[in-house]
Amino acid sequence: MNAKLVIAGVLLAFVCVQFADSLVCYTCTTPKDCKSPKKVTCTNNAANETSNYLNVYHQGVRNATSTRFDCLALKYTWNNDVIHQLHGCVHPAVGACSLSLKPAYSHFNKTRCVLCSGNKCNKNPAGKVSSSSITIAASIVGIVLAKIYA
Ligand SMILES: *[C@@H]1O[C@H](CO)[C@@H](O)[C@H](O)[C@H]1NC(C)=O
Ligand SMILES: *[C@@H]1O[C@H](CO)[C@@H](O)[C@H](O)[C@H]1NC(C)=O
Ligand SMILES: *[C@@H]1O[C@H](CO)[C@@H](O)[C@H](O)[C@H]1NC(C)=O
Repeated sequence: MNAKLVIAGVLLAFVCVQFADSLVCYTCTTPKDCKSPKKVTCTNNAANETSNYLNVYHQGVRNATSTRFDCLALKYTWNNDVIHQLHGCVHPAVGACSLSLKPAYSHFNKTRCVLCSGNKCNKNPAGKVSSSSITIAASIVGIVLAKIYA
């Protein structure tokens, strides 16, 4: 019984660490780019880069250092044209979706802003944000746990 508990605990911890340590996000910085976004593993470096892009249009982008990250999907339109699009890893502390635009860009229409924390959860394009990788992982853990306790 105790051994089973330990195994279950280790397994759960392992899954959590996996998600915490190696979040992968789609990344792109222009509408054109975002038609075929690249993937990046989140690091402070990658999140700093997103901050730099956020800083172009927004005010009050905080300097931050993080141990866990979120994926961002941000889209601005104007007259139905996508004028700015940014995907990438972000520092949660930056609050990317609640930033104010600089006055010069205040006419931008924010049509989509999503912060999420599953691998590749900020998948382009306009579709739904899926948490399927988390769901799948959770189901696997559930099945394994069920087997251990069966
Ligand atoms: C990210 O930015 C923060 C704040 O400016 C800085 O302290 C940190 O060294 C940067 N990290 C990397 C990896 O560039
Ligand atoms: C963030 O760091 C940069 C240089 O590393 C500095 O110029 C800027 O003022 C800092 N911003 C804030 C909000 O602390
Ligand atoms: C901005 O969004 C609002 C609400 O969706 C819409 O009514 C308006 O026409 C948009 N403006 C432009 C310039 O796209």
